[in-house]
Amino acid sequence: MKVLGIETSCDESAAAIYCDKDGLLSHKVYSQTVHSEHGGVVPELAARDHIRKTLGLIEDALSEAKCSKDDVDAIAYTAGPGLAGALLVGSMMGKTIAYAWNKPSIAVNHMEGHLLAPMLEDSAPKPPFVALIVSGGHTMLVDVQQIGEYRLLGETVDDAAGEAFDKVARLLNLGKYTGSEVAKIAELGDKKRFKFPRPMTKTRNLDFSFSGLKTKVLYEYQSIENPVEQDKADIAWAFQEAVIETLVKKCKLALQDTRLNALVLAGGVGANKYLRQRLAEELGDNSVFYPRIEFCTDNAAMIAYAGWWNLSQGRKDLSLAVKVKPRWKLV
Ligand code: KG4
Ligand code: ZN
Repeated sequence: MKVLGIETSCDESAAAIYCDKDGLLSHKVYSQTVHSEHGGVVPELAARDHIRKTLGLIEDALSEAKCSKDDVDAIAYTAGPGLAGALLVGSMMGKTIAYAWNKPSIAVNHMEGHLLAPMLEDSAPKPPFVALIVSGGHTMLVDVQQIGEYRLLGETVDDAAGEAFDKVARLLNLGKYTGSEVAKIAELGDKKRFKFPRPMTKTRNLDFSFSGLKTKVLYEYQSIENPVEQDKADIAWAFQEAVIETLVKKCKLALQDTRLNALVLAGGVGANKYLRQRLAEELGDNSVFYPRIEFCTDNAAMIAYAGWWNLSQGRKDLSLAVKVKPRWKLV
């Protein structure tokens, strides 16, 4: 079975073809740049850019996979969570293509896509495992007994980890307001100069909170007179360390509580090298599974895979109505 996946939930337009026999046949991503001068994603601009780019990406993904419309068995599209207008573009395209080609379609939960992204790798994890999903909008620990059977262990009570990274990037004026810029400059930081609190780590609670930490970073940075690049690097290092040590500690607790020994790391913050390194140090290389870096951040390969899995369980959309779920909860 070959599934065309479409992703347009935020500021990445993407298309991919997944085949259950041969694996991933192609995937294309376009990261929007229209938001750079606005200091954050502007929903209306995101939707308009998806309209401009997504069909071209679908055509490219089909041609790279050497697929015609007759080779595609189903269309999977992200229906939520995400920005309503952005989701509508991909959902409308997915539904329309399915109707025109007379194929089934399936609405995919973006977070389930992230969670299943490591399944695209040669060393795919086998449930049961604990999944840490850390993205721009979510921070969740999930007990996965089987694919499709999810139990929420903990989540953020305020900012998501990725959101905190984005806000610190903006505070430090790093050019691009994303966590990868914080991670880059953090490498040059003095590891001893600042030490920020690790929020909510004094109890066995598996929830997270990053908003107080973000405020601490703000006050510390504002107290520096005429900050230079080294000051920014020192702050970035201490912030990153506080977030990562908090995530690592909660992952260890979650594994203890569930008596499981495998951890899956997914979502944009999962691209952070220091997080990967610390998890491997604490849990051992063989216990941690993650997707390749490009499948941590938003992509359609994970949507095509999650769509295929749901279709294989007998699910599909029967209605012609285009419905998006901007707050669709995974659990
Ligand atoms: O999963 P994703 O692409 O989009 C959402 O579903 O939200 O995650 C994007 C988030 C952003 O907040 C970005 O700052 C963060 O992932 N991110 C990182 C890194 N690369 C991306 N955070 C920390 N370190 C990185 N290397
Ligand atoms: Zn995402």
